[in-house]
Amino acid sequence: MKVLGIDVGGSGIKGAPVNLQTGELIAERYRLATPQPSVPDAISDVVAEITEHFAWKGPLGCTFPAVIKKGVAYTAANVDKSWLGTNIEELITTKTGNPALLLNDADAAGLAEMQFGAGKGREGVVIMLTFGTGIGTAIFIDGKLLPNTEFGHLEIRCKEAEHQAAARIRKEESLGWKRWVERVNEYLQRMENLFWPDLFIFGGGVSQKQKKFFHLLKTRTEIVPAQLQNQAGIIGAALAAGKHFKR
Ligand code: BGC
Repeated sequence: MKVLGIDVGGSGIKGAPVNLQTGELIAERYRLATPQPSVPDAISDVVAEITEHFAWKGPLGCTFPAVIKKGVAYTAANVDKSWLGTNIEELITTKTGNPALLLNDADAAGLAEMQFGAGKGREGVVIMLTFGTGIGTAIFIDGKLLPNTEFGHLEIRCKEAEHQAAARIRKEESLGWKRWVERVNEYLQRMENLFWPDLFIFGGGVSQKQKKFFHLLKTRTEIVPAQLQNQAGIIGAALAAGKHFKR
C-alpha cells in the first residue's frame, strides 16, 4: 500500500509518497517553507500544494507539532495560537479532497523508527526524543505507542526542558556542543529516573550531526541515534494513515 506522508515543521513542510511495506519514499521528497504566520489556512494551503505536486489521490497522513486528538489540536507551543481547537484533519481533508489523518510529529517519527529504524524489534519501554524547535517525545511499550506525551515541557529547575535543551536553543544562545549536551544530559537523566526506559532513540534534525555530540551523552540507559533522519515524520505519518484507513 502507498500513502502520502507530510511532515509539518517550524521551518519547512515536507512530503512524499511512502511504500508502507518497506518504509521507502517512492518519489523525491518535496519541501516548501512553512508560511509565517503559521496560521491554519496558510499551512493547509501548503499541504494542499504538496498533495497537488504528487497529483495525489488517496489517503494521506500529516504530522503537526501539537497534541492531536481526533484531528483537533489541543496545544500550540511553537505554532500560531489560532491552531488551538482547530480541526486540522477536517481542514486538510476539505482542502486536498483526500482522506487525511493528523498526528503529533514526535509520535510519527517514533512510529517510523520503531518499524523501520533504530527501534526495530525492540521491546520494553522505548522513548523516542526529537530535538528541534521544541523537544518531542513518543513512548512505546512493547512496540505500542502511548500517544501525545508532552515531556518536552517537563520542568527542570523551574524552566521547561525544551526552553533549555531544544536544538533551537543551542543556536539561539550560541552554545557550544559541550554546554548544550550538559543540558541535554540533565534532561535525559530526569527522564530515565521517571520512566526507567530500556532504550532512548535520539532524533530530530540535530541527530544528523551525531559525530559532534553523541560521545558526550551520559545516560545509564542505552541510547542510539535515530536512523531515518529527516524522513521519519513523513514515513510515520504515512504508516499511521495507512493503518487508520485500512480499518
Ligand atoms: C510540542 C510537541 C511537539 C514537540 C516537537 C513541543 O513544543 O508541544 O507537541 O511534539 O514540540 O515538535
